[in-house]
Amino acid sequence: MNQTAIEDAKPIERNNSDDPLNDPNYKTVGEVTVPNAAMTTKNVDVYYGDKQAIYNVSLDVGKNEVLAMIGPSGCGKSTFLRCLNRMNDTIDICRIEGDIRLDGEDIYSRNMDVVLLRARVGMVFQKPNPFPKSVYDNVAYGVNLHGLSRSKSDLDDIVEDALKRAGLWDEVSDRLNQPGTGLSGGQQQRLCIARAIAISPEIILMDEPCSALDPIATAKIEELIDELSKHYSICIVTHSMQQAARVSQRTAYFHLGKLIEVGATDIIFTNPSHRLTEGYITGRFG
Ligand SMILES: Nc1ncnc2c1ncn2[C@@H]1O[C@H](COP(=O)(O)OP(=O)(O)O)[C@@H](O)[C@H]1O
Ligand SMILES: [Mg+2]
Repeated sequence: MNQTAIEDAKPIERNNSDDPLNDPNYKTVGEVTVPNAAMTTKNVDVYYGDKQAIYNVSLDVGKNEVLAMIGPSGCGKSTFLRCLNRMNDTIDICRIEGDIRLDGEDIYSRNMDVVLLRARVGMVFQKPNPFPKSVYDNVAYGVNLHGLSRSKSDLDDIVEDALKRAGLWDEVSDRLNQPGTGLSGGQQQRLCIARAIAISPEIILMDEPCSALDPIATAKIEELIDELSKHYSICIVTHSMQQAARVSQRTAYFHLGKLIEVGATDIIFTNPSHRLTEGYITGRFG
């Protein structure tokens, strides 16, 4: 065969990264896997009725890493995040395809106990949502539900430890019996974080956890995220690029349901590879 024939025989290389928006099997730029994954997701598609919201997303969450998910409003960040602890199960028309594993275990398998899954993969929402119970009972709730304490004094220790880890103990130790809903917004959000960590999760999902908070309360949560990542993996959706840059080690950029690019946060924000990522971080759209 002469040279021309060899070249003719080569498959046409598709430059997927150039037209992600037209390609339902778009392949993310960057390394989607990590060596030490707490959770793995492969080829995830999500539909609401017949409308597809997530296209072929594969992305691992590393142990003890803070992974930020960014992208324009409506690009599927919350949808993807909710796949990770089956929160989408609560939406009737939502259908998920693909493979999602926690420590190697298929979280969508029939044997998976969803209540237990949501303890292992905790979630903190945009708007703080303490139960209409005392500060103490908010934190003790999941511990009791899962039978994780041996005695009342053991439970007291777990509650105190969770509130300390959430950076809230000093502010509430003298009002444990007062309603959690009476705390300030920032305190309520830290109470929700205490509630999640009291049951020793492996991963904490946070969906724009600071967007209802003032800058001081936001700074406290950001400090806390850094501290928490010593013990847990954290996946945080944020519309603030500054926040993603401050708190995360890896950043994933979503656009119209596709994971366009993922990489080390400092690289994504200074030298992204994909033109869509660059367009977003330089403020051309979003
Ligand atoms: N409960 C729902 N029912 C129908 N469509 C939804 C629902 N939630 C989200 N969507 C759609 O899915 C897409 C992604 O939304 P979402 O995950 O909320 O994006 P983001 O969090 O990035 O703003 C959007 O087009 C949105 O309208
Ligand atoms: Mg959202």
